[in-house]
Amino acid sequence: MQRNISIAIDGPAGAGKSTIAKIISKNMGIVYLDTGAMYRTVALKAVRDQIDTTDRESLAKMVQDVDITVDYIDGEQSIYLNGEDVTSQIRTPEISIGASNVAVVPEVRIKMVELQRQIASKTSVVMDGRDIGTYVLPKANFKFFLTASVEERALRRYNEQLAKGFKDISLDSVKSDIEYRDKNDSSREFAPLAKAADAIEVDTTSLSIDEVAQRIVSIIKENM
Ligand code: DC
Repeated sequence: MQRNISIAIDGPAGAGKSTIAKIISKNMGIVYLDTGAMYRTVALKAVRDQIDTTDRESLAKMVQDVDITVDYIDGEQSIYLNGEDVTSQIRTPEISIGASNVAVVPEVRIKMVELQRQIASKTSVVMDGRDIGTYVLPKANFKFFLTASVEERALRRYNEQLAKGFKDISLDSVKSDIEYRDKNDSSREFAPLAKAADAIEVDTTSLSIDEVAQRIVSIIKENM
């Protein structure tokens, strides 16, 4: 029997991680786990409970009663908060900032990482996030670190948000949210956003999604 393989894709917001991870997942027939969705779900719960997403003590308590599960329908990940499907509620600018805030809290991370490792122990997986290659799956078979200039990442997110129907946004506000998250995610003490020493770095600024996906899929296939 062939062992499970794991592929880690890390990098800052807007670097193209989820698009590339979805292509790899389809191309190789393995599960795609979007770990950011888990932190977003914790942030949604905090907002609903009127807990400030920077109130570490309350978040550490709250997360003990949070049950997060994922499921796949036609290859698309759905995420559940205490049994409720919240997939479409976690993509707002408020929840993006909230997710970056709650992700600083060690108790929150420990619970999410446990769930992520559990999933990877049962099946082959491509996982995207900030700490997958450095902390969640340090023995992943393949590790990639995607980057792009902050201007390019802001523009991608801005266009995505417009396509989703958000109207009250400006390119400047999207850029400053991304800059806030970059700083918060890479400066936290516990499992910060960082490139693993053995990760392959790909700057996606001037590449098309197809070019990045092709490059990554061929590296994986050549080395399997
Ligand atoms: O990938 P995303 O934009 O959905 O992630 C939302 C936030 O969650 C991100 O700003 C930081 C946090 N996060 C994290 O700390 N670790 C991960 N593995 C994934 C996301």
